[in-house]
Amino acid sequence: ERDDAVPRDLEGVRVLVTAGGTREPVDPVRFLGNRSSGKQGYALARLAAQRGARVVLVSGYTAGLDEPAAVDTVHVKTALDMREAVEKHAADADAIVMAAAVADFRPTVTAVSKIKKGDGEPDAIPLAKNPDILAGIVESRSAGTLDADTVIVGFAAETGDENGDVLTYARAKLARKGCDLLVVNAVGEGKAFEVDDNDGWLLGADGSECALEHGSKSLMASRVLDAVAQRVVRSRD
Ligand code: CTP
Ligand code: CA
Repeated sequence: ERDDAVPRDLEGVRVLVTAGGTREPVDPVRFLGNRSSGKQGYALARLAAQRGARVVLVSGYTAGLDEPAAVDTVHVKTALDMREAVEKHAADADAIVMAAAVADFRPTVTAVSKIKKGDGEPDAIPLAKNPDILAGIVESRSAGTLDADTVIVGFAAETGDENGDVLTYARAKLARKGCDLLVVNAVGEGKAFEVDDNDGWLLGADGSECALEHGSKSLMASRVLDAVAQRVVRSRD
């Protein structure tokens, strides 16, 4: 459904969005996964298209979401697949918005047949670290493989603890990741996962800090796209 109030301020801008969660196979029937619904990334992709962008959506697993209209959706399973798809499409993007929940770890090997229960206690599953796709994109931009103007947006679900609050951790993550914008979801009881509402902050590498008021994921998406529209360079083709 297209709202007439939606601005066409991303006309012709090429946007790459990642969404959903990756699944890392343990054996033919089991995987390591996460609770990402994909709603935030899909809302971003849908709204960016409504605002005139040409959108590629690299999607992991979602809570059964339909592909957004007028968006080129590519489905992937694992973090390694997602990296490949992102690397393939990154050079053609003016803005890259990484909303996916990428599994940090994968089993070092995938058993070719189903692991049997057996009589004793199970073996531990050895894990390897997945590549950080966002960090790779930022590195490519620094190395000149990607255009220096490419706007890169990361996401973080953060909790506070006795050593720091959500914002302190989020600022540190923004600096560590080297992206231009970090969308921070405050997570805790009933927040961010599997719910329709979100709250958090939008932090800019330029030091800007904008509270994202409690509201729907589409409202959050429109705030994020406002910030992208401000930063994106339009003259390229
Ligand atoms: N991300 C990524 N590749 C990974 C892990 C994360 O591209 N292997 C991206 C996510 O899509 C998100 C951002 O990095 O945009 C932050 O993810 P997050 O899980 O918060 O950061 P991590 O560096 O994995 O730190 P941690 O999970 O330990 O908090
Ligand atoms: Ca992580």
